[in-house]
Amino acid sequence: MMSSRKFFPKAPLLFKSLSTSMRLSAEDLFVHRDTSENNALTPFEFTEPNMARIAALVQNYPSGAQRSVLGAALDIVQRQIGWIPISAMHKVAEILSVPRVRVYEWATFYTMCKRRYRGKYHVKVCSTTPCMLRGAEIILRATEEATCCTVGGLSPDKIFGVDIVECQGACVNAPVLVVDDDYYEDVNVCDVYNIIKAIKCGKIPQTGPQNGRYASEPICGFTTLLEPPPPPGFGIQAALVSKK
Ligand code: FES
Repeated sequence: MMSSRKFFPKAPLLFKSLSTSMRLSAEDLFVHRDTSENNALTPFEFTEPNMARIAALVQNYPSGAQRSVLGAALDIVQRQIGWIPISAMHKVAEILSVPRVRVYEWATFYTMCKRRYRGKYHVKVCSTTPCMLRGAEIILRATEEATCCTVGGLSPDKIFGVDIVECQGACVNAPVLVVDDDYYEDVNVCDVYNIIKAIKCGKIPQTGPQNGRYASEPICGFTTLLEPPPPPGFGIQAALVSKK
């Protein structure tokens, strides 16, 4: 096949790559592979308070429908030890009397289920379209540099794990950085360094928009609903107004 450079020798960049999409290097395998840290014999037991939590959740459903607690039970595992080894999946299957494959299905489908240790603080950078258009790639690079951690890996001290995630449901405040359950919105590179620095010092940075917005209102101030709303009955034709 003849190279395109022969025809367009002065435009090599045009043919360098057809896609500029971000490489999702944090995507985990959807299948399980036994490792020394994650296998069916990895020690895992629910703590007593967590067993009580699961028992209370099961009570919310009709008898025989305890399978509905599956997602919550996996979340409890994750909050207890920070991730979900396969032995914990087996424990959940046993407690809820569901086939193990049902638990595997859940844990491999939902990306919020961490099937390997992702550090004391799991830092997630949203890369879906609105965040990408608002600079997610730069935010990601800043996050990697601030945490000393590349995407999909752990920082040398295992404090941070960084991952790329899909839409976190806060697009109107893009770009978005999520640390565990906390959302940092409207972030810029400087905010990323400040947030990570504060976490390193044991502080919990102010969550929410970082650019002074209260929520998702326009940054330049309100543009609608500037006057008090009209009273009830406004605009109703005279014939329909009750004559008391
Ligand atoms: S695209 Fe990032 S929060 Fe929706």
